[in-house]
Amino acid sequence: MQSKQSIHGSWANRWIFILAATGSAVGLGNIWKFPYITGENGGGAFVLVYLFCILLVGIPIMMGEILVGRRARQSPINAVRETAAEAGISQNWSLIGWLGVLAGYIIFSFYSVVAGWVLHYIAGMGTGQFVDISSDLAGQRFTDLLASPEQMLMWHTLFVLMVVGVIAGGVNKGLERATKIMMPALFVLLLVLLGYSVNTGSFAEGWDFLFSFNPDALTWDAVLVALGHAFFTLSLGMGAIMAYGSYMGKKDSIGVTVLTIGVLDTLVALVAGLAIFPVVFANQMDPGAGPGLMFITLPVAFGQMPGGQVFGFLFFMLVGVAAWTSAISLLEPATAWVVERFGLRRLPAALLLGFVIWLMGIASLLSFNHWAEIKMLGMSIFDFLDFITANIMLPLSGLMIAIYSGWALNKHITRDELSLSSEAAYSAWSLVIRFVAPIAVMIIFVVNLYDKLA
Ligand code: PHE
Repeated sequence: MQSKQSIHGSWANRWIFILAATGSAVGLGNIWKFPYITGENGGGAFVLVYLFCILLVGIPIMMGEILVGRRARQSPINAVRETAAEAGISQNWSLIGWLGVLAGYIIFSFYSVVAGWVLHYIAGMGTGQFVDISSDLAGQRFTDLLASPEQMLMWHTLFVLMVVGVIAGGVNKGLERATKIMMPALFVLLLVLLGYSVNTGSFAEGWDFLFSFNPDALTWDAVLVALGHAFFTLSLGMGAIMAYGSYMGKKDSIGVTVLTIGVLDTLVALVAGLAIFPVVFANQMDPGAGPGLMFITLPVAFGQMPGGQVFGFLFFMLVGVAAWTSAISLLEPATAWVVERFGLRRLPAALLLGFVIWLMGIASLLSFNHWAEIKMLGMSIFDFLDFITANIMLPLSGLMIAIYSGWALNKHITRDELSLSSEAAYSAWSLVIRFVAPIAVMIIFVVNLYDKLA
């Protein structure tokens, strides 16, 4: 088992893996969702809880996912089956892989719709349509976009094709090449925007908002949101990280690698917050504007500022790149499975899967206009898909990964695969993955569900 290689290829080195996994982790979650949920939940206290969740739940579960992927060197569905066989336990554990692949699929379908909006805004910012725009007009523009299935379909289609194009190239010529170009671009864009906000925005106010600890703002609900988001932002529970882990070098340390990914993902979220809030405050706008923060508040804010057209454009480029590298990792697990299972080449496999996602995405985008009346559990199709994935499938799948890697797999497998620097480090991981993480996840799972359904 030790010298096994994936049929799909492997990352050239440890840094490529770190960057690819960071590309998966850094996405709309960091730049679109994190700032607005932080805004809605009062800032600093929320950030602190979120950091705890990353450390105590996210990182250990990510280690669990990677160890399974790397052990078997196959797509998540087959990786779980194979490690279960090695451990001599039921093959039905591969259900974890199925659940993950399914969740990834559903997420991609609505993620792509939002990414489509981002592409639309890149074009809009690039052509100066938001210069000096009023709040009302910016709100109207966004409403108009949501009312137009044709517009959304065009951008959604383009986005799916961009992802399929990379996936079709395979691990080395597709994913790795994209990582090498896009991740440095992402970091540079982020730093440029941070520089802009330090110089032009109300930086001190933005900083205070993110980091001043105000315990009164901390509600139980905010804790749940933070936990759920820790999952989403680290791309856990969907097989994405497991699939990327299966292309990882045998000698690389999983512990150090995962910590690096967790730190980078968190830094990007915080820096994105520091790039966004000062710009919002400089224009006396509302940081808690919800999902519209990015598509209404920010265009207005940038539109008012010196050089805002250029920096607004760069900002949406940043979001676009981040969404792209994340969506790639959403499609990879299913593609790898189809290639393994049916012996298809990557191009037809990616096209086939991309087509199904594209069709599913149409349901999401129609739910903003023609199908707005259709409600599932009182939610639009888009909100419903977001709800069942983020609040049900991901926690469930994360819980199963924790139980699988912490309890079901033999310790000799996990110890060997993790090869942590000391027995104490392994014991710490074992304690967290067996008790802390599953209990925390179980709490989010049950309370969230109760909250929504009661
Ligand atoms: N982590 C990504 C984000 O923060 C979303 C994602 C989830 C990507 C799952 C891949 C897999 O936006």
